[in-house]
Amino acid sequence: MRIDVVSIFPSYFDGLTLSLLGKAQSAGILDLRVRDLRDWTFDRHRTVDDTPYGGGAGMVMKPEPWGLALDELAETGDSAGARPTIVFPSPAGEVFTQATARELATREHLVFGCGRYEGIDERVFEYAATLGEVRLISLGDYVLNGGEVAVMAMVEAIGRLIPGVVGNPESLIEESHEDGLLEYPSYTKPALWREREVPPVLLSGNHGAIASWRREQQLERTRTRRPDLLPE
Ligand code: ADE
Repeated sequence: MRIDVVSIFPSYFDGLTLSLLGKAQSAGILDLRVRDLRDWTFDRHRTVDDTPYGGGAGMVMKPEPWGLALDELAETGDSAGARPTIVFPSPAGEVFTQATARELATREHLVFGCGRYEGIDERVFEYAATLGEVRLISLGDYVLNGGEVAVMAMVEAIGRLIPGVVGNPESLIEESHEDGLLEYPSYTKPALWREREVPPVLLSGNHGAIASWRREQQLERTRTRRPDLLPE
């Protein structure tokens, strides 16, 4: 999979060279390229923002650098010439879930455009739709200073679903949200720690009993912590 990220703070994404996603890049499973939006500016100050038409607080990201960035990245996406999916993180977008991650993990080429300030000139989204599928996606119902942290989270959630990135695919199945429920609790040695015991069923060797206990724990946790995930 090819992922391009455009940001005025490319070093935010240094963390994505660590751990599993870093290994996936070395192994050639994930081609992640982070670009500085200012590379598509030509004035002395490398300007990416300007005052909003109509007035109001803050600055708006100018369309020209974004247009050039998208032209270049959409074109060079993949050899088959497939259109990319272009994601703009935004608190005004659809909420990112595990289902979104699963859907985007099937794409050949993703382009993430990180907005800052009061946002990006609206015409950029219309133009982007001529180059590929455009998605405005929110990390959740709160406001960040810009799209970078949201894109970090999305790239990690999507990247780990690419086949070969997580060594043991079984571990993907048993996680929170994969089956619509929260994950069951986990324990390791020692069996007794600071007067706290591991639930005896886990030491029983009875695989059927362990599976039903875990399922019950998943349901109970979901009922108490996230009732919104359960059917009515
Ligand atoms: N940019 C600012 N806040 C955001 C959020 N909650 N999700 C995605 N992008 C954002």
